[in-house]
Amino acid sequence: MKHLKNIKELATLKGAHEKDGRRLSPEDLSLIKDASVIVDTDENILWSGKASELPSKFKDTPSVDCSNFVITPEIVDSHTHTVFGGNRAFEYSMRLNGADYQDIAKAGGGILNTMEKTLSADLDELFKDACERIERIHSYGVGTLEIKSGYALDYNKEKEITQLIHKLKERFRGKVQIFNTYLAAHAVPKSFQSSKDYMDTVVMPLLEDLSKEGIVDAVDIFHEQGYFDEQDTALLFDRAKELGIGIKVHADEFNDNGGAALACQHGALSCDHLLQTSKDGIDKLSRSSTVATILPGTAFFLGKKLANARSFLDAGCKVALASDYNPGSCHCDNLLLISSIAGKNLEMNIAEIWSAITLNASAALGMNDQGAIIEGMKARFSVFETNSLDEIIYSWGRNFSISPQKALSL
Ligand code: NIG
Ligand code: FE
Repeated sequence: MKHLKNIKELATLKGAHEKDGRRLSPEDLSLIKDASVIVDTDENILWSGKASELPSKFKDTPSVDCSNFVITPEIVDSHTHTVFGGNRAFEYSMRLNGADYQDIAKAGGGILNTMEKTLSADLDELFKDACERIERIHSYGVGTLEIKSGYALDYNKEKEITQLIHKLKERFRGKVQIFNTYLAAHAVPKSFQSSKDYMDTVVMPLLEDLSKEGIVDAVDIFHEQGYFDEQDTALLFDRAKELGIGIKVHADEFNDNGGAALACQHGALSCDHLLQTSKDGIDKLSRSSTVATILPGTAFFLGKKLANARSFLDAGCKVALASDYNPGSCHCDNLLLISSIAGKNLEMNIAEIWSAITLNASAALGMNDQGAIIEGMKARFSVFETNSLDEIIYSWGRNFSISPQKALSL
């Protein structure tokens, strides 16, 4: 057992948890000054609250002094494409000079460009680059990280990439919890006649193959005009459900394709992007447990209008924020920076922002036992060496995070 004591400020998110992460007011941060947390040997939370109210049975528990720390539930980046070869810096310059993301993609750039670089990279190089990226992401305070495959788009290499993400999961166990998402349905390589042809030849048979290894946590698909349609999406989701694998979807990014409604219909963990989602989609999301994941970094990076977060929040949706870190549409790996900059533009209050990167982001990965520092939840924290919680979001791009393993000897 362990007593984290004298915590300068502790955001438990108890209020947010009680409201299932929906319709939050600032008080739902449930901020406590001079707080204590008791953690058991299995790393579950036994008690949290004001130091002055610590039950006497915990008084002699070995303690760690946290008087320099602000502690929050662990930050979760629930949408990233961290494994990729090369970069697309030149495309970014082309876009600054007036080119359009979708036109570049049609001309063979975009995802297919990264596909070529990923296919020509060797696995050791991809692993080494991914390790460096994960270390950097962890240094900002992220303790749970979703990583999608989807830049090989070839049966054998795509399989190796999912296995590589599994190897990353093993490598970072105890430090960063990694969630392995299968996104072979990311784009259709030019050698296939149609998305259906590619689904039948690569995506579906490979899912069968990988599901035998038990290493896929969720499937994902880019449901968008010119990529994958409703039939492709239903095919993938129906099989994922039979296999007991979670469902996520890139939905309504460039057009309103009814992606949010489709996600709800299939009981998806989350639907992500949502730049063009209709009122009908928002209403359906608000009545479901599917998390609405907004990716403001991508809208910034593409120079597009941000998602209308308030419509989702006011309707009662469970909203998460994620980075979408990838080489093409958001080459920024820092979710706290993105959230800090986006918060005011998305008109989110402080509890909505923190909940979106902790409690609701955990739910977007089906992890409902973390994201609030209350009895019965997992002891997963982010730790910041600063004076107040407010300073973290206020100080755009400044990194106050310190490793919880080091700071709390967990
Ligand atoms: O989430 N929208 C689809 N996929 C990625 C972009 C990938 C890329 O451009 O390399 C996204 O934005
Ligand atoms: Fe994405």
